[in-house]
Amino acid sequence: MIRIPGDKSISHRALLLSALSEGPSRLEGLLPGEDCRSTAGILRALGCEVPELPVDGGPIRVQGLGLRGFRPPGHTLDCGNSGTTARLLLGLLSGLGLPAVLSGDASLRRRPMRRVTDPLTEAGARFREEGDPGCLPIRLDGGELDAIRHTSRVASAQVKSALLLAGVGGGVEVDVTEPIPSRDHSERMLRRMGVQVQQVGSAPHRVVLPTPPGRLDPLEFHVPGDISSAAFLLVLASLGRGSLEVANVGLNPTRTGALDVLRRMGGRISVENPRELDDPGGEPAGDLVVRGSGLRGTRIGGDEIPSLIDEIPILAVAAARAEGITEIRDAEELRVKETDRIRALAVNLRAVGVEVEELEDGLVIQGSDHPLQGRIHTYGDHRIAMAFGVLGALPGNRIEVDDPRVVEVSYPGFWDQLREVRKQPASPGPGAGHHFPRPRPVVTLDGPAASGKSSTARAVARTLGFRHLDSGALYRAAALALLEVDLPVDQWMDRGPEEVARRGLGLRETDEGFEVLLGGSPVSTGALRSAQVTERVSQVAAIPPIRELILEPLRTAASRGGIVADGRDMGSVVFPDAEVKVFLTASLPERARRRILQEGGELSAFRIEEEARRLAERDAQDRNRAVAPLRRPEGALDVDTTGLDFSGQVQVVVDRVREVWGAPLSVSS
Ligand code: S3P
Repeated sequence: MIRIPGDKSISHRALLLSALSEGPSRLEGLLPGEDCRSTAGILRALGCEVPELPVDGGPIRVQGLGLRGFRPPGHTLDCGNSGTTARLLLGLLSGLGLPAVLSGDASLRRRPMRRVTDPLTEAGARFREEGDPGCLPIRLDGGELDAIRHTSRVASAQVKSALLLAGVGGGVEVDVTEPIPSRDHSERMLRRMGVQVQQVGSAPHRVVLPTPPGRLDPLEFHVPGDISSAAFLLVLASLGRGSLEVANVGLNPTRTGALDVLRRMGGRISVENPRELDDPGGEPAGDLVVRGSGLRGTRIGGDEIPSLIDEIPILAVAAARAEGITEIRDAEELRVKETDRIRALAVNLRAVGVEVEELEDGLVIQGSDHPLQGRIHTYGDHRIAMAFGVLGALPGNRIEVDDPRVVEVSYPGFWDQLREVRKQPASPGPGAGHHFPRPRPVVTLDGPAASGKSSTARAVARTLGFRHLDSGALYRAAALALLEVDLPVDQWMDRGPEEVARRGLGLRETDEGFEVLLGGSPVSTGALRSAQVTERVSQVAAIPPIRELILEPLRTAASRGGIVADGRDMGSVVFPDAEVKVFLTASLPERARRRILQEGGELSAFRIEEEARRLAERDAQDRNRAVAPLRRPEGALDVDTTGLDFSGQVQVVVDRVREVWGAPLSVSS
């Protein structure tokens, strides 16, 4: 069972509202991240005694100052990286009529503030922008507020909350309308503190503070875990094996869009021990249980966007690992988050090898299981860092995050927890024996001559991002070694094995596959494909001790999985435990046709018949020979490719791999 840090949105509100209340509040489970520290630091500068936020989420006591107890700050208020801190305080301080200057880090100083200052100016507040137009630093010059009536163009909980706080602080009515409901933590918490807040309709959604309160009751509140943080682990576990439990996650319906999307993508997530609080100001929560399932692409957009806006980076990562295409639309708000998240996702996904299209309001992402590698830029954005942290933690991927420290903003301890989850032992019960993360399988492709094994193997490997293991290249290297030492051909059977062993055969990983080494040096494809070698290779392949010598480099190359090996005895002798075995066949005339085309010949009925006869003889020889006879490996899937074109043939094998790999494998990683 994993515990995640407290909800960021709720933590900000709990701190701000308890400072405004009359009396002592007890808050537990607050997020100790940098964003909430910024809010706590500003409250201190305004005269409120807020203890350090405990790293373990332990309880603190905040002595509220009441609606008139704040003092003007002696210095610029630093909101750090936190948009919520900046916007909520612009509202609250306008209501309280306190002069102050609000600023923040370089990212925050680029984010738009007029969505909050415009309606407040309309109601009588006075601001001076001291930085870029519409941005922090902003000086508040006091001013009496009138009733606030506003229709927001965007569904923004920060705008809505800023106006509600201005109404509470300034003692004025508030009536705000947003196109779709955004998170309602402020409304719930205000109600819990004795304030009447009405919510009407859903699209548009209207929130009214009809009678500004004279005082707020202190809070007794336990902040649940942040679903936006849980989402990183949910995606990791959905794409892995085994299961994971995340304890006490906030499940406010305005925040659970990512759960719906992951379920739509095939995710298996259930809620246990739901806590639906009777108290009108409560926040629903529960434990989430997620089981590895693999994911498929989906469309994300429309009214669901506000309920998952912060989860889009990790959903984009899920999409990169899902089967098929995912389209994300109506998410233009992402362009004004901690960074332009649409751009950051497009640039970084591309940098690690994902096919992605950038739209004005979203992304189109092609899922794949190619290994993803590269270095990504966080642009100072915590959620970009964590999303790519998860992508990098998935089997087969190697991703470096340029600034891992930025996660401190919302999820201290993220990297440790990520490591811990990756190490989670398999859960007992039906999932027993399954491992997390899932290893990539070994795929073998055997079949008769001219069945298209090696071209299929190469294409399957490319499609899956696996490496192609061409056993024929090792036999060719053995022949080359014997030709190079000028060993007379009649002595190959007797002295060949020892000569080959002396030269040393090996394989080395390259980006695309493997290169063959002789005596530690790479052998060129030209040398391996020379006419002399071609002439002698089958003779070498018929020497059992040489076959023995070749087993070791082949098995070493395959030890980490993720390979497609083709040959004559791959599924039977070399990799008898391979997870996916395929036996490719095709009718004789079809194989004859392919062989003729491969050799650049002209197709005619006569040539096909002649070639078919030759292949039939070859099959008979291959089936009856003493060494490595042609046979269908036990447990192999027969794939008759007669009626298939090349891409259809590749697809059948790829589907077979996905079918087996998608299902839990019973081998150890
Ligand atoms: C938040 C509201 C959302 C969200 C942000 C936190 C809040 O922003 O993206 O992380 O706590 O009110 P917007 O209000 O700009 O949509």
